[in-house]
Amino acid sequence: MQNFKYITAKKISEAIGALVPDAGFTVEDIVTMLEYPPDTSMGDVAFPCFRLSKLMRMAPPKIASALAEKTADFEAGTSQAVGGYLNFKISDGYLAGHVLTEIEEKGEKFGSSNIGEGKTVVLDYCSPNLMKPFHIGHLGTTVIGHSLKLLHQFVGYNCVGINYLGDWGTQFGKQIAAYKKWGDRETIEKGGVDELVKLYVRYNNECEDNDALKDEARAEFHKLEEGDEENLALWKWFVEVSFEECKKTCDLLGVTFDSFKGESFYTDKMPAQVEKLRETGLLKMDEGASIVDLSDYNMPPCLILKKDGSTLYPTRDIAAAVYRKNTYDFDKCIYVTSSAQSLHFAQWFKVVELMGYDWSDKLVHVPYGTVSIDGAKLATRTGNVVLLRDLFRLSIEKVSEIMNEKSPDLENREAVAEAVGIGAIVFNYLYNSRIKDINFTLEQALSFDGSTGPYAQYTYARTCSILEKAAGVVSEGEGKLTSESEAALLKTLSRFPEIVANAIEEYEPSNITRYVIDVCTAFNRFYRDCPILTAEEEEQRQFRVRLTKAAKTVLGTALHLICMKTPEKI
Ligand code: ARG
Repeated sequence: MQNFKYITAKKISEAIGALVPDAGFTVEDIVTMLEYPPDTSMGDVAFPCFRLSKLMRMAPPKIASALAEKTADFEAGTSQAVGGYLNFKISDGYLAGHVLTEIEEKGEKFGSSNIGEGKTVVLDYCSPNLMKPFHIGHLGTTVIGHSLKLLHQFVGYNCVGINYLGDWGTQFGKQIAAYKKWGDRETIEKGGVDELVKLYVRYNNECEDNDALKDEARAEFHKLEEGDEENLALWKWFVEVSFEECKKTCDLLGVTFDSFKGESFYTDKMPAQVEKLRETGLLKMDEGASIVDLSDYNMPPCLILKKDGSTLYPTRDIAAAVYRKNTYDFDKCIYVTSSAQSLHFAQWFKVVELMGYDWSDKLVHVPYGTVSIDGAKLATRTGNVVLLRDLFRLSIEKVSEIMNEKSPDLENREAVAEAVGIGAIVFNYLYNSRIKDINFTLEQALSFDGSTGPYAQYTYARTCSILEKAAGVVSEGEGKLTSESEAALLKTLSRFPEIVANAIEEYEPSNITRYVIDVCTAFNRFYRDCPILTAEEEEQRQFRVRLTKAAKTVLGTALHLICMKTPEKI
Protein backbone atom coordinates (compact mmCIF):
# COMPACT_ATOMS: atom_id res chain seq x y z
CA MET A 1 0.00 0.00 0.00
CA GLN A 2 1.84 3.04 -1.25
CA ASN A 3 -0.45 5.62 0.30
CA PHE A 4 0.69 8.87 1.79
CA LYS A 5 0.98 7.49 5.30
CA TYR A 6 3.21 4.73 4.03
CA ILE A 7 5.57 6.86 2.01
CA THR A 8 5.75 9.36 4.85
CA ALA A 9 6.64 6.53 7.22
CA LYS A 10 9.34 5.42 4.82
CA LYS A 11 10.82 8.87 4.74
CA ILE A 12 10.72 9.14 8.54
CA SER A 13 12.33 5.75 8.91
CA GLU A 14 15.20 6.86 6.66
CA ALA A 15 15.55 10.06 8.66
CA ILE A 16 15.62 8.19 11.97
CA GLY A 17 18.12 5.74 10.50
CA ALA A 18 20.38 8.63 9.56
CA LEU A 19 20.28 9.96 13.12
CA VAL A 20 20.34 6.69 15.08
CA PRO A 21 21.57 3.85 12.89
CA ASP A 22 20.17 1.00 15.03
CA ALA A 23 16.92 2.57 16.22
CA GLY A 24 14.99 -0.56 15.32
CA PHE A 25 11.77 1.03 14.02
CA THR A 26 10.33 -0.60 10.93
CA VAL A 27 8.29 1.34 8.41
CA GLU A 28 5.22 -0.59 9.64
CA ASP A 29 5.92 0.50 13.24
CA ILE A 30 6.01 4.07 12.11
CA VAL A 31 2.79 3.73 10.10
CA THR A 32 1.00 2.72 13.29
CA MET A 33 2.54 5.66 15.16
CA LEU A 34 1.41 8.25 12.63
CA GLU A 35 -1.61 10.31 13.59
CA TYR A 36 -4.11 12.45 11.75
CA PRO A 37 -3.96 15.95 13.31
CA PRO A 38 -7.41 17.18 14.34
CA ASP A 39 -6.74 20.47 12.57
CA THR A 40 -5.66 19.79 9.00
CA SER A 41 -4.16 23.25 8.64
CA MET A 42 -1.37 21.81 10.82
CA GLY A 43 -0.71 19.00 8.42
CA ASP A 44 -2.16 15.85 6.92
CA VAL A 45 -0.29 13.39 9.10
CA ALA A 46 1.77 13.92 12.22
CA PHE A 47 4.57 11.91 13.75
CA PRO A 48 4.77 12.16 17.55
CA CYS A 49 8.41 12.11 18.66
CA PHE A 50 7.82 11.25 22.32
CA ARG A 51 8.61 7.57 22.07
CA LEU A 52 11.98 8.35 20.50
CA SER A 53 12.94 10.58 23.36
CA LYS A 54 14.45 7.88 25.56
CA LEU A 55 16.24 6.19 22.73
CA MET A 56 17.79 9.37 21.39
CA ARG A 57 18.28 11.05 24.78
CA MET A 58 16.80 14.21 23.41
CA ALA A 59 13.69 16.25 24.14
CA PRO A 60 10.83 15.56 21.68
CA PRO A 61 10.83 19.09 20.14
CA LYS A 62 14.54 18.74 19.41
CA ILE A 63 13.99 15.39 17.75
CA ALA A 64 11.15 16.87 15.70
CA SER A 65 13.45 19.65 14.48
CA ALA A 66 16.25 17.24 13.67
CA LEU A 67 13.86 15.03 11.71
CA ALA A 68 12.39 18.05 9.92
CA GLU A 69 15.84 18.88 8.62
CA LYS A 70 16.41 15.32 7.44
CA THR A 71 13.04 15.20 5.66
CA ALA A 72 13.30 18.60 4.01
CA ASP A 73 13.73 16.95 0.61
CA PHE A 74 10.52 14.88 0.89
CA GLU A 75 9.15 14.44 -2.61
CA ALA A 76 5.48 14.00 -1.70
CA GLY A 77 5.03 17.03 0.52
CA THR A 78 6.56 19.22 3.18
CA SER A 79 7.51 18.63 6.80
CA GLN A 80 7.51 20.97 9.74
CA ALA A 81 8.34 20.56 13.43
CA VAL A 82 5.66 21.80 15.82
CA GLY A 83 6.46 21.09 19.46
CA GLY A 84 7.10 17.38 19.85
CA TYR A 85 5.43 16.59 16.54
CA LEU A 86 6.70 16.39 13.03
CA ASN A 87 3.85 17.44 10.73
CA PHE A 88 3.62 16.52 7.07
CA LYS A 89 1.54 18.15 4.42
CA ILE A 90 0.80 16.36 1.17
CA SER A 91 1.67 18.36 -1.90
CA ASP A 92 -0.91 19.07 -4.58
CA GLY A 93 1.44 17.53 -7.08
CA TYR A 94 1.46 14.25 -5.22
CA LEU A 95 -2.31 14.22 -4.86
CA ALA A 96 -2.96 14.99 -8.50
CA GLY A 97 -0.19 12.86 -9.88
CA HIS A 98 -0.15 9.90 -7.59
CA VAL A 99 -3.42 9.52 -5.68
CA LEU A 100 -5.78 10.29 -8.52
CA THR A 101 -3.86 8.13 -10.97
CA GLU A 102 -3.90 5.23 -8.57
CA ILE A 103 -7.68 5.42 -8.18
CA GLU A 104 -8.07 5.60 -11.95
CA GLU A 105 -5.80 2.65 -12.50
CA LYS A 106 -7.34 0.43 -9.85
CA GLY A 107 -10.96 1.47 -10.40
CA GLU A 108 -13.34 -0.66 -8.37
CA LYS A 109 -10.38 -2.46 -6.87
CA PHE A 110 -9.05 0.70 -5.27
CA GLY A 111 -9.02 0.10 -1.53
CA SER A 112 -8.63 -3.65 -1.83
CA SER A 113 -5.54 -5.71 -1.14
CA ASN A 114 -4.42 -9.31 -1.22
CA ILE A 115 -3.80 -9.83 2.47
CA GLY A 116 -6.41 -12.59 2.54
CA GLU A 117 -5.09 -14.50 -0.44
CA GLY A 118 -5.04 -18.24 0.11
CA LYS A 119 -6.97 -17.97 3.36
CA THR A 120 -10.56 -18.93 4.11
CA VAL A 121 -12.98 -17.12 6.38
CA VAL A 122 -16.22 -18.74 7.47
CA LEU A 123 -18.97 -16.34 8.50
CA ASP A 124 -22.03 -17.48 10.44
CA TYR A 125 -24.75 -14.85 10.22
CA CYS A 126 -28.48 -14.31 9.88
CA SER A 127 -29.12 -17.78 11.38
CA PRO A 128 -32.72 -17.28 12.53
CA ASN A 129 -34.64 -19.68 14.70
CA LEU A 130 -37.27 -20.95 12.34
CA MET A 131 -40.92 -21.00 13.41
CA LYS A 132 -40.38 -17.53 14.82
CA PRO A 133 -41.02 -14.29 12.94
CA PHE A 134 -38.10 -12.79 11.03
CA HIS A 135 -38.00 -9.50 12.86
CA ILE A 136 -36.05 -6.31 13.25
CA GLY A 137 -33.64 -8.01 15.66
CA HIS A 138 -32.32 -10.01 12.68
CA LEU A 139 -31.27 -6.89 10.81
CA GLY A 140 -27.99 -6.64 12.74
CA THR A 141 -26.70 -10.14 12.22
CA THR A 142 -27.77 -10.14 8.58
CA VAL A 143 -26.26 -6.87 7.41
CA ILE A 144 -23.19 -6.82 9.68
CA GLY A 145 -22.47 -10.42 8.69
CA HIS A 146 -22.90 -9.82 4.99
CA SER A 147 -20.89 -6.63 5.06
CA LEU A 148 -18.04 -8.44 6.84
CA LYS A 149 -18.18 -11.08 4.17
CA LEU A 150 -17.94 -8.48 1.40
CA LEU A 151 -15.08 -6.74 3.19
CA HIS A 152 -13.12 -9.95 3.59
CA GLN A 153 -13.70 -10.86 -0.04
CA PHE A 154 -12.51 -7.42 -1.03
CA VAL A 155 -9.10 -8.08 0.50
CA GLY A 156 -8.75 -11.48 -1.10
CA TYR A 157 -10.14 -13.97 1.42
CA ASN A 158 -12.08 -16.93 0.22
CA CYS A 159 -15.36 -16.52 2.12
CA VAL A 160 -18.02 -19.00 3.12
CA GLY A 161 -21.24 -17.40 4.33
CA ILE A 162 -23.32 -19.78 6.40
CA ASN A 163 -26.92 -19.32 7.43
CA TYR A 164 -26.99 -21.61 10.45
CA LEU A 165 -30.72 -22.08 10.52
CA GLY A 166 -32.30 -22.84 13.87
CA ASP A 167 -34.16 -25.75 12.34
CA TRP A 168 -34.18 -28.26 15.16
CA GLY A 169 -35.46 -28.43 18.70
CA THR A 170 -38.48 -28.97 20.87
CA GLN A 171 -40.37 -26.11 19.22
CA PHE A 172 -40.90 -28.44 16.28
CA GLY A 173 -42.62 -30.90 18.59
CA LYS A 174 -45.09 -28.17 19.51
CA GLN A 175 -45.54 -27.13 15.93
CA ILE A 176 -46.26 -30.65 14.78
CA ALA A 177 -48.67 -31.28 17.64
CA ALA A 178 -50.44 -27.96 16.97
CA TYR A 179 -50.75 -28.71 13.29
CA LYS A 180 -52.14 -32.15 13.88
CA LYS A 181 -54.75 -30.68 16.22
CA TRP A 182 -55.85 -27.51 14.51
CA GLY A 183 -53.98 -26.96 11.28
CA ASP A 184 -54.72 -27.63 7.66
CA ARG A 185 -52.46 -27.64 4.66
CA GLU A 186 -54.30 -25.13 2.59
CA THR A 187 -54.28 -22.37 5.17
CA ILE A 188 -50.54 -22.71 5.65
CA GLU A 189 -49.84 -22.91 1.95
CA LYS A 190 -51.70 -19.66 1.56
CA GLY A 191 -50.68 -17.78 4.68
CA GLY A 192 -47.10 -19.01 5.06
CA VAL A 193 -45.10 -18.52 8.18
CA ASP A 194 -47.73 -16.22 9.73
CA GLU A 195 -50.09 -19.16 9.95
CA LEU A 196 -47.39 -21.36 11.43
CA VAL A 197 -46.62 -18.73 14.03
CA LYS A 198 -50.31 -18.45 14.87
CA LEU A 199 -50.53 -22.17 15.51
CA TYR A 200 -47.36 -22.11 17.53
CA VAL A 201 -48.45 -19.18 19.66
CA ARG A 202 -51.81 -20.80 20.33
CA TYR A 203 -50.16 -24.05 21.36
CA ASN A 204 -47.78 -22.26 23.66
CA ASN A 205 -50.60 -20.36 25.32
CA GLU A 206 -52.68 -23.45 25.84
CA CYS A 207 -49.66 -25.40 27.05
CA GLU A 208 -49.15 -23.11 29.97
CA ASP A 209 -51.53 -24.92 32.28
CA ASN A 210 -51.97 -28.10 30.37
CA ASP A 211 -49.36 -30.76 31.03
CA ALA A 212 -50.98 -33.20 28.66
CA LEU A 213 -50.28 -30.83 25.75
CA LYS A 214 -46.70 -30.42 26.85
CA ASP A 215 -46.30 -34.19 26.89
CA GLU A 216 -47.84 -34.46 23.46
CA ALA A 217 -45.35 -31.96 22.03
CA ARG A 218 -42.49 -33.81 23.64
CA ALA A 219 -43.73 -37.08 22.21
CA GLU A 220 -43.97 -35.57 18.73
CA PHE A 221 -40.43 -34.26 18.95
CA HIS A 222 -39.22 -37.62 20.16
CA LYS A 223 -40.90 -39.28 17.18
CA LEU A 224 -39.21 -36.75 14.92
CA GLU A 225 -35.84 -37.54 16.42
CA GLU A 226 -36.49 -41.25 15.90
CA GLY A 227 -37.07 -40.57 12.23
CA ASP A 228 -40.87 -41.01 12.07
CA GLU A 229 -41.76 -40.44 8.43
CA GLU A 230 -44.87 -38.37 8.88
CA ASN A 231 -43.21 -36.05 11.37
CA LEU A 232 -40.07 -35.75 9.26
CA ALA A 233 -42.17 -34.71 6.28
CA LEU A 234 -44.03 -32.13 8.35
CA TRP A 235 -40.79 -30.81 9.81
CA LYS A 236 -39.28 -30.42 6.36
CA TRP A 237 -42.33 -28.58 5.15
CA PHE A 238 -42.43 -26.27 8.17
CA VAL A 239 -38.76 -25.46 7.72
CA GLU A 240 -39.33 -24.56 4.08
CA VAL A 241 -42.35 -22.39 4.78
CA SER A 242 -40.71 -20.62 7.66
CA PHE A 243 -37.46 -20.10 5.80
CA GLU A 244 -39.32 -18.46 2.93
CA GLU A 245 -39.82 -15.30 5.02
CA CYS A 246 -36.12 -15.08 5.81
CA LYS A 247 -35.23 -15.74 2.20
CA LYS A 248 -37.50 -13.01 0.85
CA THR A 249 -36.03 -10.49 3.25
CA CYS A 250 -32.47 -11.50 2.40
CA ASP A 251 -33.30 -11.24 -1.31
CA LEU A 252 -34.50 -7.69 -0.77
CA LEU A 253 -31.23 -6.91 0.97
CA GLY A 254 -29.14 -8.65 -1.66
CA VAL A 255 -27.76 -10.89 1.05
CA THR A 256 -26.62 -14.32 -0.07
CA PHE A 257 -25.19 -17.47 1.49
CA ASP A 258 -22.98 -20.32 0.44
CA SER A 259 -24.41 -22.83 2.88
CA PHE A 260 -27.64 -23.30 4.80
CA LYS A 261 -26.51 -26.13 7.04
CA GLY A 262 -28.57 -25.53 10.14
CA GLU A 263 -28.71 -27.04 13.57
CA SER A 264 -30.43 -30.24 12.39
CA PHE A 265 -27.43 -31.08 10.23
CA TYR A 266 -25.31 -31.61 13.35
CA THR A 267 -27.55 -34.10 15.11
CA ASP A 268 -25.35 -37.03 14.19
CA LYS A 269 -22.11 -35.09 14.64
CA MET A 270 -22.52 -34.33 18.32
CA PRO A 271 -21.96 -37.76 19.88
CA ALA A 272 -18.32 -37.84 18.73
CA GLN A 273 -17.63 -34.51 20.42
CA VAL A 274 -19.45 -35.53 23.60
CA GLU A 275 -17.33 -38.66 23.60
CA LYS A 276 -14.17 -36.61 23.22
CA LEU A 277 -15.24 -34.40 26.13
CA ARG A 278 -15.75 -37.51 28.21
CA GLU A 279 -12.38 -39.03 27.23
CA THR A 280 -10.49 -35.88 28.05
CA GLY A 281 -12.14 -35.84 31.47
CA LEU A 282 -13.77 -32.49 30.90
CA LEU A 283 -17.34 -33.69 31.26
CA LYS A 284 -18.68 -33.48 34.82
CA MET A 285 -22.03 -34.57 36.18
CA ASP A 286 -24.05 -31.88 37.86
CA GLU A 287 -27.47 -32.82 39.21
CA GLY A 288 -27.87 -35.31 36.41
CA ALA A 289 -26.79 -32.96 33.65
CA SER A 290 -23.38 -33.11 31.93
CA ILE A 291 -21.38 -29.92 32.06
CA VAL A 292 -17.89 -28.53 31.60
CA ASP A 293 -16.79 -26.65 34.68
CA LEU A 294 -15.41 -23.23 33.75
CA SER A 295 -15.02 -21.77 37.24
CA ASP A 296 -11.26 -21.43 36.68
CA TYR A 297 -12.12 -18.99 33.93
CA ASN A 298 -14.72 -17.06 35.89
CA MET A 299 -17.59 -18.36 33.86
CA PRO A 300 -20.61 -20.45 34.72
CA PRO A 301 -20.45 -24.07 33.52
CA CYS A 302 -21.07 -24.86 29.87
CA LEU A 303 -24.06 -27.21 29.55
CA ILE A 304 -23.46 -30.14 27.22
CA LEU A 305 -26.26 -32.64 27.93
CA LYS A 306 -29.53 -32.22 29.76
CA LYS A 307 -30.66 -34.68 32.42
CA ASP A 308 -32.52 -36.70 29.83
CA GLY A 309 -29.40 -36.91 27.68
CA SER A 310 -30.58 -34.43 25.05
CA THR A 311 -28.07 -32.03 23.54
CA LEU A 312 -28.01 -28.26 23.88
CA TYR A 313 -27.13 -25.11 21.95
CA PRO A 314 -23.41 -25.20 22.91
CA THR A 315 -23.17 -28.91 22.06
CA ARG A 316 -24.31 -28.19 18.53
CA ASP A 317 -22.04 -25.20 18.17
CA ILE A 318 -19.01 -27.27 19.18
CA ALA A 319 -19.89 -30.01 16.69
CA ALA A 320 -20.52 -27.42 13.97
CA ALA A 321 -17.18 -25.71 14.57
CA VAL A 322 -15.30 -29.01 14.26
CA TYR A 323 -17.19 -29.81 11.08
CA ARG A 324 -16.42 -26.39 9.61
CA LYS A 325 -12.76 -26.67 10.47
CA ASN A 326 -12.56 -30.07 8.78
CA THR A 327 -14.56 -28.94 5.78
CA TYR A 328 -13.17 -25.48 5.09
CA ASP A 329 -9.90 -25.39 7.05
CA PHE A 330 -10.75 -21.82 7.99
CA ASP A 331 -8.32 -19.18 9.01
CA LYS A 332 -11.09 -17.45 10.92
CA CYS A 333 -14.62 -18.48 11.80
CA ILE A 334 -16.77 -15.47 12.59
CA TYR A 335 -20.12 -15.55 14.43
CA VAL A 336 -22.32 -12.47 14.30
CA THR A 337 -25.00 -12.43 16.99
CA SER A 338 -26.61 -10.16 19.54
CA SER A 339 -24.41 -9.34 22.51
CA ALA A 340 -26.93 -11.24 24.65
CA GLN A 341 -25.09 -14.35 23.43
CA SER A 342 -21.59 -13.20 24.34
CA LEU A 343 -21.35 -15.50 27.34
CA HIS A 344 -22.52 -18.50 25.30
CA PHE A 345 -19.70 -17.92 22.81
CA ALA A 346 -17.05 -17.23 25.44
CA GLN A 347 -18.03 -20.48 27.15
CA TRP A 348 -17.96 -22.84 24.24
CA PHE A 349 -14.86 -21.20 22.68
CA LYS A 350 -13.16 -22.02 25.98
CA VAL A 351 -14.45 -25.59 25.88
CA VAL A 352 -13.05 -26.03 22.36
CA GLU A 353 -9.70 -24.78 23.61
CA LEU A 354 -9.76 -27.14 26.60
CA MET A 355 -10.58 -30.02 24.25
CA GLY A 356 -7.17 -29.38 22.72
CA TYR A 357 -8.27 -28.05 19.34
CA ASP A 358 -5.38 -25.82 18.39
CA TRP A 359 -7.60 -23.68 16.16
CA SER A 360 -9.76 -22.42 19.03
CA ASP A 361 -8.13 -19.00 18.72
CA LYS A 362 -9.50 -18.69 15.21
CA LEU A 363 -13.07 -18.50 16.48
CA VAL A 364 -14.34 -14.93 16.65
CA HIS A 365 -17.55 -13.67 18.15
CA VAL A 366 -18.78 -10.37 16.75
CA PRO A 367 -21.55 -9.06 19.02
CA TYR A 368 -23.94 -6.20 18.38
CA GLY A 369 -26.40 -4.21 20.49
CA THR A 370 -30.16 -4.10 20.31
CA VAL A 371 -32.15 -2.15 17.78
CA SER A 372 -35.58 -0.69 18.20
CA ILE A 373 -37.69 1.55 16.09
CA ASP A 374 -39.83 4.45 17.13
CA GLY A 375 -42.72 6.05 15.43
CA ALA A 376 -43.55 3.30 12.99
CA LYS A 377 -47.01 2.03 13.69
CA LEU A 378 -46.30 -1.24 12.09
CA ALA A 379 -49.21 -3.59 12.42
CA THR A 380 -47.69 -6.53 14.13
CA ARG A 381 -49.44 -9.59 13.06
CA THR A 382 -47.45 -11.71 15.43
CA GLY A 383 -47.42 -10.14 18.84
CA ASN A 384 -45.02 -7.46 19.86
CA VAL A 385 -42.35 -7.67 17.22
CA VAL A 386 -41.73 -5.59 14.13
CA LEU A 387 -41.26 -7.82 11.12
CA LEU A 388 -38.32 -6.78 9.04
CA ARG A 389 -40.24 -7.08 5.81
CA ASP A 390 -43.05 -4.86 7.11
CA LEU A 391 -40.51 -2.25 8.07
CA PHE A 392 -38.97 -2.40 4.60
CA ARG A 393 -42.38 -2.16 2.99
CA LEU A 394 -43.28 0.92 4.99
CA SER A 395 -39.97 2.57 4.22
CA ILE A 396 -40.32 1.86 0.49
CA GLU A 397 -43.83 3.31 0.55
CA LYS A 398 -42.62 6.50 2.16
CA VAL A 399 -39.79 6.87 -0.34
CA SER A 400 -42.26 6.36 -3.18
CA GLU A 401 -44.39 9.18 -1.83
CA ILE A 402 -41.38 11.49 -1.66
CA MET A 403 -40.30 10.50 -5.14
CA ASN A 404 -43.74 11.06 -6.61
CA GLU A 405 -43.28 14.64 -5.60
CA LYS A 406 -39.60 15.17 -6.23
CA SER A 407 -38.95 13.15 -9.35
CA PRO A 408 -42.21 12.14 -10.98
CA ASP A 409 -40.61 11.34 -14.34
CA LEU A 410 -37.96 8.95 -13.14
CA GLU A 411 -37.68 5.65 -14.95
CA ASN A 412 -37.51 2.49 -12.84
CA ARG A 413 -39.28 4.29 -10.04
CA GLU A 414 -40.11 1.11 -8.19
CA ALA A 415 -36.64 -0.29 -8.23
CA VAL A 416 -35.18 3.02 -7.12
CA ALA A 417 -37.72 3.39 -4.30
CA GLU A 418 -36.79 -0.08 -3.13
CA ALA A 419 -33.06 0.65 -3.22
CA VAL A 420 -33.51 3.91 -1.33
CA GLY A 421 -36.13 2.67 1.12
CA ILE A 422 -34.18 -0.39 2.17
CA GLY A 423 -30.85 1.39 1.89
CA ALA A 424 -32.07 4.03 4.34
CA ILE A 425 -32.64 1.44 7.04
CA VAL A 426 -29.43 -0.46 6.37
CA PHE A 427 -27.35 2.71 6.29
CA ASN A 428 -28.89 4.09 9.44
CA TYR A 429 -28.27 0.81 11.18
CA LEU A 430 -24.67 0.43 10.02
CA TYR A 431 -23.82 4.01 10.86
CA ASN A 432 -23.50 3.26 14.56
CA SER A 433 -20.73 1.23 16.05
CA ARG A 434 -22.21 -2.20 16.27
CA ILE A 435 -22.09 -2.69 20.00
CA LYS A 436 -24.27 0.32 20.71
CA ASP A 437 -27.98 -0.15 21.41
CA ILE A 438 -29.82 1.96 18.91
CA ASN A 439 -33.25 3.37 18.45
CA PHE A 440 -34.18 4.98 15.23
CA THR A 441 -37.10 6.62 13.53
CA LEU A 442 -38.02 6.20 9.91
CA GLU A 443 -38.25 9.96 9.45
CA GLN A 444 -34.66 10.35 10.49
CA ALA A 445 -33.46 7.42 8.37
CA LEU A 446 -35.27 8.74 5.32
CA SER A 447 -34.15 12.32 5.54
CA PHE A 448 -32.25 13.52 2.49
CA ASP A 449 -29.94 15.67 4.60
CA GLY A 450 -27.67 14.56 7.35
CA SER A 451 -25.75 11.33 7.62
CA THR A 452 -28.29 9.13 5.92
CA GLY A 453 -28.56 6.53 3.19
CA PRO A 454 -30.67 8.74 0.90
CA TYR A 455 -28.08 11.53 1.23
CA ALA A 456 -25.27 9.14 0.29
CA GLN A 457 -27.17 7.60 -2.62
CA TYR A 458 -28.20 11.04 -3.79
CA THR A 459 -24.59 12.19 -3.79
CA TYR A 460 -23.65 9.12 -5.79
CA ALA A 461 -26.40 9.87 -8.31
CA ARG A 462 -25.09 13.43 -8.53
CA THR A 463 -21.63 12.17 -9.57
CA CYS A 464 -23.32 10.08 -12.25
CA SER A 465 -25.32 12.96 -13.65
CA ILE A 466 -22.27 15.24 -13.78
CA LEU A 467 -20.33 12.62 -15.69
CA GLU A 468 -23.21 12.09 -18.06
CA LYS A 469 -23.34 15.79 -18.81
CA ALA A 470 -19.58 16.00 -19.21
CA ALA A 471 -19.35 13.16 -21.69
CA GLY A 472 -18.33 14.54 -25.06
CA VAL A 473 -18.32 18.10 -23.74
CA VAL A 474 -15.14 18.15 -21.70
CA SER A 475 -12.07 16.94 -23.51
CA GLU A 476 -9.91 14.24 -22.03
CA GLY A 477 -6.67 15.29 -20.42
CA GLU A 478 -4.84 15.28 -17.15
CA GLY A 479 -6.01 18.72 -16.19
CA LYS A 480 -4.81 20.74 -13.26
CA LEU A 481 -5.59 20.87 -9.55
CA THR A 482 -6.38 24.46 -8.65
CA SER A 483 -8.39 24.56 -5.47
CA GLU A 484 -8.30 23.61 -1.84
CA SER A 485 -11.55 21.63 -1.96
CA GLU A 486 -10.24 19.49 -4.78
CA ALA A 487 -7.18 18.66 -2.69
CA ALA A 488 -9.36 17.95 0.35
CA LEU A 489 -11.56 15.55 -1.62
CA LEU A 490 -8.52 13.70 -2.95
CA LYS A 491 -7.11 13.38 0.55
CA THR A 492 -10.38 11.87 1.73
CA LEU A 493 -10.42 9.44 -1.19
CA SER A 494 -6.83 8.44 -0.53
CA ARG A 495 -7.77 7.15 2.91
CA PHE A 496 -10.05 4.41 1.62
CA PRO A 497 -7.56 1.50 1.77
CA GLU A 498 -6.79 2.28 5.38
CA ILE A 499 -10.49 2.54 6.26
CA VAL A 500 -11.13 -0.86 4.71
CA ALA A 501 -8.25 -2.42 6.63
CA ASN A 502 -9.50 -0.96 9.91
CA ALA A 503 -13.09 -2.05 9.29
CA ILE A 504 -11.83 -5.61 8.85
CA GLU A 505 -9.52 -5.52 11.82
CA GLU A 506 -12.25 -4.19 14.09
CA TYR A 507 -15.09 -6.18 12.47
CA GLU A 508 -16.79 -2.84 12.19
CA PRO A 509 -18.73 -1.96 9.01
CA SER A 510 -19.62 1.40 10.57
CA ASN A 511 -16.09 2.56 9.69
CA ILE A 512 -17.12 2.31 6.06
CA THR A 513 -20.51 3.97 6.63
CA ARG A 514 -18.91 6.94 8.36
CA TYR A 515 -16.31 7.17 5.67
CA VAL A 516 -19.06 7.28 3.03
CA ILE A 517 -20.36 10.40 4.76
CA ASP A 518 -16.85 11.90 4.80
CA VAL A 519 -16.58 11.35 1.05
CA CYS A 520 -20.06 12.81 0.46
CA THR A 521 -19.26 15.86 2.54
CA ALA A 522 -15.95 16.42 0.75
CA PHE A 523 -17.55 15.86 -2.64
CA ASN A 524 -20.46 18.20 -1.99
CA ARG A 525 -18.07 20.87 -0.78
CA PHE A 526 -16.03 20.49 -3.94
CA TYR A 527 -19.24 20.63 -5.97
CA ARG A 528 -20.31 23.80 -4.21
CA ASP A 529 -16.92 25.51 -4.51
CA CYS A 530 -15.84 24.41 -7.96
CA PRO A 531 -17.87 24.78 -11.11
CA ILE A 532 -17.20 21.66 -13.13
CA LEU A 533 -18.60 22.03 -16.62
CA THR A 534 -18.49 25.82 -16.51
CA ALA A 535 -15.01 26.25 -15.05
CA GLU A 536 -12.97 28.88 -16.85
CA GLU A 537 -10.09 26.79 -18.12
CA GLU A 538 -10.38 23.50 -19.94
CA GLU A 539 -7.63 22.08 -17.70
CA GLN A 540 -9.76 22.76 -14.65
CA ARG A 541 -12.75 21.13 -16.26
CA GLN A 542 -10.66 18.10 -17.19
CA PHE A 543 -9.30 17.71 -13.71
CA ARG A 544 -12.70 18.12 -12.07
CA VAL A 545 -14.28 15.52 -14.29
CA ARG A 546 -11.50 13.08 -13.41
CA LEU A 547 -12.02 13.87 -9.76
CA THR A 548 -15.78 13.37 -9.98
CA LYS A 549 -15.20 10.03 -11.59
CA ALA A 550 -12.80 9.00 -8.84
CA ALA A 551 -15.31 10.06 -6.18
CA LYS A 552 -18.00 8.04 -7.94
CA THR A 553 -15.76 4.97 -8.02
CA VAL A 554 -14.81 5.11 -4.36
CA LEU A 555 -18.30 6.00 -3.19
CA GLY A 556 -19.80 3.17 -5.21
CA THR A 557 -17.33 0.62 -3.87
CA ALA A 558 -17.79 1.77 -0.29
CA LEU A 559 -21.59 1.69 -0.55
CA HIS A 560 -21.56 -1.83 -1.97
CA LEU A 561 -19.39 -2.97 0.92
CA ILE A 562 -22.17 -2.01 3.32
CA CYS A 563 -24.92 -3.76 1.36
CA MET A 564 -26.20 -0.60 -0.33
CA LYS A 565 -27.42 -0.33 -3.89
CA THR A 566 -26.36 2.62 -6.01
CA PRO A 567 -29.03 3.85 -8.43
CA GLU A 568 -27.58 6.21 -11.03
CA LYS A 569 -30.63 8.44 -10.91
CA ILE A 570 -32.87 9.22 -7.98
N1 ARG B 1 -30.27 -19.23 15.95
C1 ARG B 1 -29.64 -18.41 16.95
C2 ARG B 1 -30.62 -17.36 17.45
O1 ARG B 1 -31.51 -16.96 16.71
C3 ARG B 1 -28.40 -17.72 16.44
C4 ARG B 1 -27.34 -18.66 15.93
C5 ARG B 1 -26.01 -18.00 15.87
N2 ARG B 1 -24.98 -18.89 15.39
C6 ARG B 1 -24.46 -19.87 16.09
N3 ARG B 1 -23.57 -20.65 15.50
N4 ARG B 1 -24.75 -20.08 17.35
O2 ARG B 1 -30.49 -16.92 18.56
